[in-house]
Amino acid sequence: MTDFLPANGYSDGDVNTNRSSAPTLESIVGERYTRRQTMFGGISALTIATLGTSFLAGCGGGDDNLPPVATAGANITSSSGRVVTLLGMAADDRGVATSGWTQIAGPSVTMSNAPGSSATFLAPSVSSATDLRFRFTATDAKGLSSSAESTATIQPAALGFTSVEKNRNDQVTVPAEYIVTVMTRLGDPIAAGVPAYANNGSDTNFANRIGDHGDALYWYGLSASAGRDDNSSVRGLMVQNHENLNEQYLHPNGPTNLTTGPRPEAEAIKEIEAHGVSVTEYRDTGNRAWGYVQDSGFNHRITPNTPVVFNGPVRGTDYLKTVYSPDGTRGRGTINNCANGHTLWGTNLTCEENWAGYFRRDNSGAGTDNAARTARELTALRRYGVNSNIGNFAWSTASSTNDVFTRWDARAKGTSATTDFRNEPNQMGWAVELDPYDKTQAPRKRTALGRFAHEGAWFGRFVPGKKLAVYLGDDSRREYFYKFVSTAAWDPADAAAANRLAVGDKYLDSGTLYVARFSADGSGVWLPLVFGQVPNRAAAGSEPIYVFADQVDILVNTRLAADAVGATPMDRPEWTATNNATGEIYLTLTNNNATLRPLNGTDAPNPRHYNDPKGTANQFGNPNGHILRLRETADDAAATSFNWDIYLFGADSAQADPANVNLSGLTATNDFSSPDGLWFARPQNASGLVKPVLWIQTDDGAFTDVTNNQMLAAMPGSVGDGGPRTITNVGAAGTATQTTRVGAAATAATLRRFLVGPIECEITGVDTTPDGRTLFVGIQHPGEGGTVAAPSSHWPDSQVSGSAGASVRPRSAIVAITKSDGGIVAL
Ligand code: FEO
Ligand code: CA
Ligand code: CA
Repeated sequence: MTDFLPANGYSDGDVNTNRSSAPTLESIVGERYTRRQTMFGGISALTIATLGTSFLAGCGGGDDNLPPVATAGANITSSSGRVVTLLGMAADDRGVATSGWTQIAGPSVTMSNAPGSSATFLAPSVSSATDLRFRFTATDAKGLSSSAESTATIQPAALGFTSVEKNRNDQVTVPAEYIVTVMTRLGDPIAAGVPAYANNGSDTNFANRIGDHGDALYWYGLSASAGRDDNSSVRGLMVQNHENLNEQYLHPNGPTNLTTGPRPEAEAIKEIEAHGVSVTEYRDTGNRAWGYVQDSGFNHRITPNTPVVFNGPVRGTDYLKTVYSPDGTRGRGTINNCANGHTLWGTNLTCEENWAGYFRRDNSGAGTDNAARTARELTALRRYGVNSNIGNFAWSTASSTNDVFTRWDARAKGTSATTDFRNEPNQMGWAVELDPYDKTQAPRKRTALGRFAHEGAWFGRFVPGKKLAVYLGDDSRREYFYKFVSTAAWDPADAAAANRLAVGDKYLDSGTLYVARFSADGSGVWLPLVFGQVPNRAAAGSEPIYVFADQVDILVNTRLAADAVGATPMDRPEWTATNNATGEIYLTLTNNNATLRPLNGTDAPNPRHYNDPKGTANQFGNPNGHILRLRETADDAAATSFNWDIYLFGADSAQADPANVNLSGLTATNDFSSPDGLWFARPQNASGLVKPVLWIQTDDGAFTDVTNNQMLAAMPGSVGDGGPRTITNVGAAGTATQTTRVGAAATAATLRRFLVGPIECEITGVDTTPDGRTLFVGIQHPGEGGTVAAPSSHWPDSQVSGSAGASVRPRSAIVAITKSDGGIVAL
């Protein structure tokens, strides 16, 4: 909301508070009026104010030496990040020559003086109520001037929008004062000469188009001269992951032989190239009128076919050797890129999540690959779920000779690992660093960060002289939460280094990988995954004992090592986020089911087992998920212990038992299910400083009978702001009690629904421009359940026109969201 400083006694009724002892406009004009009464007869002072300065000037006779009348109006109260408008009023017989506002006290702000008497500024970040004093000065043609002053009292940042209602519309819904602009969509061309996307299945050349299933995103600023500029909010590179496919919409009549093969080469190459990462230049052409630059020289795609190199301890080892990479130092591309990470040296970490299913193995029945594998290999392949008999999308069936396709066949068919692709699954499952500003540099797979279903790779705070920590979720039910700690201590000079990937080598190729174990008392420990300190993984059922060979083995088979040290299995670890004000780390645990989190299988960090009915179907387990947070001991990223609690529990507020399920006290204005994307606002603007805004995005299927997926804005407290709690869990048969640590309940001031997405989408990917005035959000897979004949969503066409033709296919896309008055989003 724009806060006006009214000159005419008008109040918008929101936050204006007149504490001024200065005379009011009416009294000033009234006083002047007494000197002009012969001229104005019986009209009132207020009418004069309404008629404005030109009327006064036009009526003036220039027969006195009085300076202009200047009034600054009432004082005002606003809060950090909002646009404040100062409205002065100047009047003079002989005409006002100049007038304008200047700041005379308080934290310095940049003022925009409009012609005439108004000025605006963005309320600065403050940690307590702070007065800013302004002076309005008017000068007449004779050089006589007068001035008046006004005070703006700025309060700390607060959520400043009305919560959006849950809905199932085929729209991105945001608060009324916000504007949605659709940015890059699936298939949009990002190179000169590439035709516009027909969106009818005929399009090709996805290596030069935006990929499908846009996921995590991040803004990398560019200066006017096309250099890296971390503070630019008008020109930048949008780096976006492309996780997966709505394959039914990519081909004229859907995919051919999707589950059986053989796949047509043209279909398979399209699907392969629609995965990976895109880097696209975005520009604001004025007042946040956003567009992208199709022919920018920075634009490029990283697809599963892009050459990459391996760095860190696993580089050059037998695990990575294939017929394509006989020395195990290089590979091709990246797959199923989910969440991300951002380094202070200007690079991006893209994370390979559910890669295991893409590979063909034939591990059961006739033609089994199992007989060709060692017992150690089989344990590893099973633990990672590399067990498909044909692979997602059956790409390997598209050719028997072209290794763009045959690489997805991981069967041990040759005489050795360097004659086939049996080790190709070991080439995936990493966090991958790329330099968005330099497309000539091959991305580097950072093997020191371990191999699993990497959701994201988010850094803790960067503290000069201290080691860096990267927090890593492994996204599967009952998987673990990891932390990598660099060997090198942070040198801020590295943030501006010219060779950015070399800085990555320094911090990300050497360090210690840990996995978390949580205790019921609210403490926890980081267990080092270091050869010599990791016991053998015990035999279990038909699974033999696994004896680690060396540190490389631990990094390739990280899940086995985490099993061996006794890490805590979690309810699907997704994104991590760092609160830069407190240093605390947040982790989404998106959900779990009754099979893997049964009534008697809860623990303090994964405490709930309940039913959230969806229509007539029961959903037992933890279908709504929760968000855990931790604080490192002594706020040291390298600490090996921490304290934790559960910041927020998802729930259906209309159904959930408030004592045992809706533990965060959610209401209709902020209830949600299955948190996934998670990001604290940048500390470059007021939304990310004193009490940073936390953005929460959902990837839900449990609450979708009530609402499409959504995004909320929060202002969390800190670990320990609630306390211990004992809850009663209710299963399909029986009850059980569980103790846990519950954070302070949510309130309307601390949690609001900001956005609801279109039909069958997931909300994933979030960043702002550094100034916080544009929010970028990823809308993934709208209409994922539909068919070519009957698309179940038509977004984003449905956003632009309000309705779209029944045959229009949906597309994943990024939206830019701005506040109509230019204020910082959410505040
Ligand atoms: Fe790709 Fe865990 O979401
Ligand atoms: Ca429900
Ligand atoms: Ca995700």
